[in-house]
Amino acid sequence: MVYPIVKLFDPVLEREAEAIEEFDTPELHKLIEDMFESMYAAKGVGLAAPQIGISKKIAVIDCSVGERPEEKLVLINPKIVKTEGKQKGEEGCLSIPGFRELVTRGKRATVKAQNAKGEWFEMAGEDLLARAFQHEIDHLHGKLYIKHISALKRDLIKRKVRKLAKAGEWT
Ligand code: NI
Repeated sequence: MVYPIVKLFDPVLEREAEAIEEFDTPELHKLIEDMFESMYAAKGVGLAAPQIGISKKIAVIDCSVGERPEEKLVLINPKIVKTEGKQKGEEGCLSIPGFRELVTRGKRATVKAQNAKGEWFEMAGEDLLARAFQHEIDHLHGKLYIKHISALKRDLIKRKVRKLAKAGEWT
């Protein structure tokens, strides 16, 4: 099932998501499947559960956007273990469509997370994957990428979005 993507100003995006405690349930597997479907429908490389209105600590990532199944990643209750180096690049978010800004992130990132069975694993990534790890895990802590840009730029985006919302063009 494809869920609509929740957009900026919905409070679910700015709330700490709840940890997953039950694993390997039909509900969890269905949620993961729906998250991939919703992410591909929106042509994203990552999606966090709060972005479909579900305040739980799950994120899915696929930097190949559906091209290579081995790149499908599910991160449950993930944590950043460490980041190394820096990369500056344009970043966008399915919850803030139409906007992109330069964001500095760690060039490499190591995450620790659980899989759908509840098993912990550690994984390192760099460049786009490292950026996706950091962006999606931020979502699970109620943090959007615009927190990483200047207040001036952030306010400008918010003003534009408010205008779009008033015109009924932000749904
Ligand atoms: Ni995002």
